[in-house]
Amino acid sequence: MVTLSMSKFCLRFVVLAALSAAMASASAQDAPHHHGIVDQPAKNFPWMHPGLSPDQRADMVLKQMTLDEKIDLMHGQGMRGWGGKPSPNACLGNGGAGFTLGVPRLGIPIIQMSDAAYGVRGSAANGRYSTALPSNLGSVASWDPQAACKYGALIGRELRAQGYNMTLGGGVDLAREPRDGRTFEYMGEDPILAGTLVGNRIQCEQAQHVIGDIKHYAMNDQESGRTEVNVIIGKRAMRESDLLAFQIGIAIGHPGAVMCSYNAVNGDYACQNKYLLTDVLEKDWKFPGFVLSDWGATHSTVEASAAGLDNEQPLDTFYGQKLKEAVQSGQIPMAQLDEHVRRILRSEFSSGIVDYPVQKSVVDVEAGFHTARSIEEQSIVLLKNANHVLPLDATKVHSIAVIGEHADFGMISGAGSGQVDPPGIAPEKWQKHVWFPTSPLKAVRRKAPGVNVQFDSGIKPASAATLARRSDVAIVFVNQWMSEGMDVPNLSLPNNQDALIEQVAAANPRTIVVLETGSAVLMPWLDKVSGVVEAWYSGSKGASAVANVLFGEVNPSAKLPITFPRNEADLPHPQLVVPPPGADGKLAVLRSGKAMPTFSVTYDEGLKVGYKWYDAEHKPVLFPFGYGLSYTTYSYSGLNVDAGPTTTLTFTVKNTGSRAGAEIAEVYAALPASADEPPKRLVGWSKVQLSAGESKQVSVTVPQLYLSIYDEKKDTWKLVPGNYTFMVGGSSQDLPLTRKVSMQ
Ligand code: BGC
Repeated sequence: MVTLSMSKFCLRFVVLAALSAAMASASAQDAPHHHGIVDQPAKNFPWMHPGLSPDQRADMVLKQMTLDEKIDLMHGQGMRGWGGKPSPNACLGNGGAGFTLGVPRLGIPIIQMSDAAYGVRGSAANGRYSTALPSNLGSVASWDPQAACKYGALIGRELRAQGYNMTLGGGVDLAREPRDGRTFEYMGEDPILAGTLVGNRIQCEQAQHVIGDIKHYAMNDQESGRTEVNVIIGKRAMRESDLLAFQIGIAIGHPGAVMCSYNAVNGDYACQNKYLLTDVLEKDWKFPGFVLSDWGATHSTVEASAAGLDNEQPLDTFYGQKLKEAVQSGQIPMAQLDEHVRRILRSEFSSGIVDYPVQKSVVDVEAGFHTARSIEEQSIVLLKNANHVLPLDATKVHSIAVIGEHADFGMISGAGSGQVDPPGIAPEKWQKHVWFPTSPLKAVRRKAPGVNVQFDSGIKPASAATLARRSDVAIVFVNQWMSEGMDVPNLSLPNNQDALIEQVAAANPRTIVVLETGSAVLMPWLDKVSGVVEAWYSGSKGASAVANVLFGEVNPSAKLPITFPRNEADLPHPQLVVPPPGADGKLAVLRSGKAMPTFSVTYDEGLKVGYKWYDAEHKPVLFPFGYGLSYTTYSYSGLNVDAGPTTTLTFTVKNTGSRAGAEIAEVYAALPASADEPPKRLVGWSKVQLSAGESKQVSVTVPQLYLSIYDEKKDTWKLVPGNYTFMVGGSSQDLPLTRKVSMQ
């Protein structure tokens, strides 16, 4: 009986959806085309006219909607494996993390959502294919907005090819705690770098006509106890760190959606936090899109609605029947419900998912490989190159040892809801080591055809050392696996890999370590090896990209988007803050019946995230933020600063070596002492392509916001009058040019 009525419902919906799609495509055929936009829709829905603004179109649709239709837009319909009462509409899903019904009679499509951190999730489980790009953190090492744009465009295309019209990617919580298990999904430790790159990614993702997302708003800076932790942090600290990354990302990318996070901030869950959702997002930043909850992060109906949560995922626990009743009883004014619905409709129109209905197609595998490889080539950071051990010259070495777990087969990827499936392999668990079939051994062999290239897994370090001893060069591939839902216990390479490197390096000093890490790692063996290359989680074509760098076909240009500390004792919280015994995550919260988190973490380092912390505390680091070597060298000269409403710096960068390269020239500012800020902050950069011997004049403009501080008392940004020192160079700790200017 139940099954019958369910399928009847679904059938009715499917027919309506098919009819509305047919109407849309009929109109598309009949009417004049402008890049596929329909000029005169057959049905003549006035809101289908693309010349109207998304706001006008949303208002028009809203006026036609019934209460039930409005409620439909406010929540998800479940997710495979999530549990809960199965939705009668489950058949309408596309296999993604969730979906929200449309209004077929009014031409409003279903929002089909998929996770897409570094590629579209769940492809193998759904019989599809996705490209895995380098991890988000890795790609930020390119410091390249154009690379971020290509990254977003590829994901947007593959989402649509797989039948989705909304991404759940766009993670930008700051790497305040480098042991955070999602560090690989985020954009590093600096708000201006992170915000700029996530914004460019989102902009180009949405240009493919998918609804873009930025997440997890806000302060979801650790996974330990993420659903029950109350983050305590001051307003100024928040605004100048994590929230600034969101502010910039939203201003550049105009995402259709913001995903609020699991944790609480200063006593209120993020998804019902008036300060975050109303005061900052809506009023200050004027965000016009909608807020959706992280999966299961909604904790109330009336409170969440009043604060500004627009859409509950993945179910309808608070935003289904309860919401309807609250509206009917007047507890939630109809105008408030309308505001939520209007925001959702607006994003559907502004992203183009109404005008460009999704049509499944074949993913362009080759194009994906090309993009994944070229972004990885721009993201690999050369950390050490003693005696110019790199690049390797295949005509001069006779034997190479390739060592490391799976280095004959593939390279590691990051797990959790960001996980991208290798072709045809659906991981049976969401927290599992997944290796992409991009084989370092094969890639090295391809680069060195006449060379004797041998492999050892490194499981027995002594055997690997024996191979290294009889080889000219040893390349050791090591990894630090990370996943959503858990933090790493420390920053050491797991599974005895430090000992492996020590033994190999003792056998052959010409040892090069290739790091496949999700975050920073410690390197107790650093002095004993000749080369270190950070490849991050390197994506579908990681091994080719690494080999291109190792053999010099690509001159590395990337710079660290995160500090590598010397040890955990130097972190703001040497002990990872974990839930106290007895607190058991969601259950504790639900059983108590109260929407209250069960433990607190005080981020008393405040705005001193990453290098700002180490600078302020005078702690030396292993590798500083912004650091990265090249096979050539650069010099800097002639800094001029033209201060004003936007400040412009000009300076010259010269390639002083013998091969072409790209230098990321970084600009930092020290604020007047009265601003009471850390010693410096990144305020701009430029990636400069230079052939051997070439010089270029570079100009970098700095908006006033990037030089301002947040005045907590007046709730506004302000420029502190006084002397500003601008510093320019190739790393946060190598800034040869400085100039002091007075700003009022
Ligand atoms: C994650 C989100 C993700 C969602 C849907 C949650 O557990 O925190 O980032 O988008 O699941 O898979």
